[in-house]
Amino acid sequence: MREINVAMIGQGFMGRTHSNAWSQVRKFFKPPVEPVMHTTCARNPDASKAFAELWGWTNSSTDWRKAVAAPEIDLVDVVTPNNMHAEVALAAIAAGKHVACEKPIARTLEESRRMVAAAEKAGVKTFVWYNYRRCPAVALAHRMVKDGALGTIRHVRAFYLQEWADESIPLIWRFQKEGSGTGSHGDLNAHIIDMTRFVTGEEITEISGAIVETFIKERKLMTGATAGGIAAGVESGAETGPVTVDDAVLFLARFSGGAVASFEAARQATGNQNRNGFEINGSKGALKFDFERMNELQYYDATRPRGVQGWTTIMCTHGGDHPYAENWWPDAHVLGYEHGFTNQAYDILRVLGGEEPVVPLPDFADAHETQRVLEAAMLSAVERRPVPLSEVK
Ligand SMILES: NC(=O)c1ccc[n+]([C@@H]2O[C@H](COP(=O)([O-])OP(=O)(O)OC[C@H]3O[C@@H](n4cnc5c(N)ncnc54)[C@H](O)[C@@H]3O)[C@@H](O)[C@H]2O)c1
Repeated sequence: MREINVAMIGQGFMGRTHSNAWSQVRKFFKPPVEPVMHTTCARNPDASKAFAELWGWTNSSTDWRKAVAAPEIDLVDVVTPNNMHAEVALAAIAAGKHVACEKPIARTLEESRRMVAAAEKAGVKTFVWYNYRRCPAVALAHRMVKDGALGTIRHVRAFYLQEWADESIPLIWRFQKEGSGTGSHGDLNAHIIDMTRFVTGEEITEISGAIVETFIKERKLMTGATAGGIAAGVESGAETGPVTVDDAVLFLARFSGGAVASFEAARQATGNQNRNGFEINGSKGALKFDFERMNELQYYDATRPRGVQGWTTIMCTHGGDHPYAENWWPDAHVLGYEHGFTNQAYDILRVLGGEEPVVPLPDFADAHETQRVLEAAMLSAVERRPVPLSEVK
């Protein structure tokens, strides 16, 4: 079987989820090509070596440029903060490698445009880790909409609510424009823009009514490194610095099929830990998803006799009926966060092996469409006006 040598750049929170996915995928799936965990890279040599040993990477490095250009590498997996996505991806593409990049694909439209153009010119395959598409319940929603279960879609309500960013959290890269581009917007709205585009199969055509807020304007400076979670375990001193991105961004939108939509991203929505999801209402039915109950999809079939209409909870764990389920456990032996990444690793390997993914995978061009929506929403907030997507290339 053809081997795919992977070089993964970054070893934080996503470094752990991706390492787990690359090491698990061959045990649960039969991909057409075999992933080899060749090289992992971060800045501290001892930490990089220890990480490689723990997660099963053959080599560790502190020189990402050398790692991505090495002739034996086939696929570069970019799991650094957002400010390095474009630089690492462009270097990998220039070396003729396929690239899998964490989301958001870039900090700015200019960066993502360059990434799309370079990948197209080089003819390499690209992938973006919008992992929530690969929850069986979300993949099922995509298939149900495609099969016409909702009829004409009229309303989309999307939310991504977290609560971790209180005053105690230091000034990690996620709070700095230079490191991340935007705050909750690129971090959280990016996921639900991608998810609703994926499930509805429609594009967003106009943004209006966007509002942006930063509640906590100064944070303590970090004195150590990030520690493998979002912000837990990061040490800080007494000195503070300014937060230069948003904590919350809300906006309204129109979809190409005529639906109206609302989007909400927040990092201080107390009571919500990682609650991302949607409610989509169509002429024939409706769907609801909430990641905090990720194995379930709620379905309302409005074509049933009125007297027996109501919400049905579908446990999306039945092999053969629910995407990816046959490769995991028996019915209702439920999946968790990490399985979405392993499902995505499988689909990446299917594409590299010349096969179709189980459900569509976002490439750089697809992720650039999500980036355009992010940009239009920021423009709408700053200029306080509706912004047609045609204005934002
Ligand atoms: N798909 C998802 O659900 C999801 C969830 C969280 C984060 N993310 C994305 O993943 C990316 C990484 O986020 P994270 O939470 O893992 O961050 P993190 O801070 O935990 O880890 C970042 C890693 O990048 C490494 N790094 C930084 N500069 C480097 C350099 N010059 N050379 C080599 N390595 C370098 C750091 O050492 C660290 O290991 C971000 O783009 C983020 O938006 C996606």
